Amino acid sequence: MAALILYYSRAAENYFGGSLKYIDKGNTEVVAEKAAKITGAELFKVEPVTPYSDDYNTCINEAKRDLNAGARPEVRALPDDFDKYDTVILMYPNYWGTMPMPMFTALEGLDFTGKTVCPLCTHEGSGLGRSEVDVKKCCKGADVKRGLAIRGSSVYDCDDMLKGWL
Ligand SMILES: Cc1cc2nc3c(=O)[nH]c(=O)nc-3n(C[C@H](O)[C@H](O)[C@H](O)COP(=O)(O)O)c2cc1C
Repeated sequence: MAALILYYSRAAENYFGGSLKYIDKGNTEVVAEKAAKITGAELFKVEPVTPYSDDYNTCINEAKRDLNAGARPEVRALPDDFDKYDTVILMYPNYWGTMPMPMFTALEGLDFTGKTVCPLCTHEGSGLGRSEVDVKKCCKGADVKRGLAIRGSSVYDCDDMLKGWL
């Protein structure tokens, strides 16, 4: 049984409970690395060819533009040998109530038939939003398990919650 953690995360300027802060590692990446240590699953980061801006306010506008347009921003790569994984843990931030659009690009480019999919979302108040519904739409043929939401500002203190869910 092989498991893959497929995740999207953005470092740089972000919003934490009322103020803007510059971070070197994105919240979701922190959780993804913890989960890889706990489970031994491999990590694969979804990276858009044209990343969203490091500036928070510009980024939220770019992400909203892509959401409203139903865009599928090009991603740099998809995992090799995707067939060999029977479990895929998806990790992503909540962007405007769902996954960032580059995650849609990646998920729609992969064949999830027969796989177990576990969605995890980091957020700043909206939880999983409608992302679980969107994951089910994108991962056709997968058994999508109940998701976990972790507040972005708590990712360094989420070990017990994460272990319980995993
Ligand atoms: C473009 C953008 C849109 C966001 N939209 C939401 C939202 O709708 N609801 C919410 O709770 N948090 C929202 N957030 C906050 C992120 O989901 C949260 O900070 C997350 O932990 C960021 O993960 P990352 O550091 O791995 O990219 C948004 C952040 C960005 C940058």
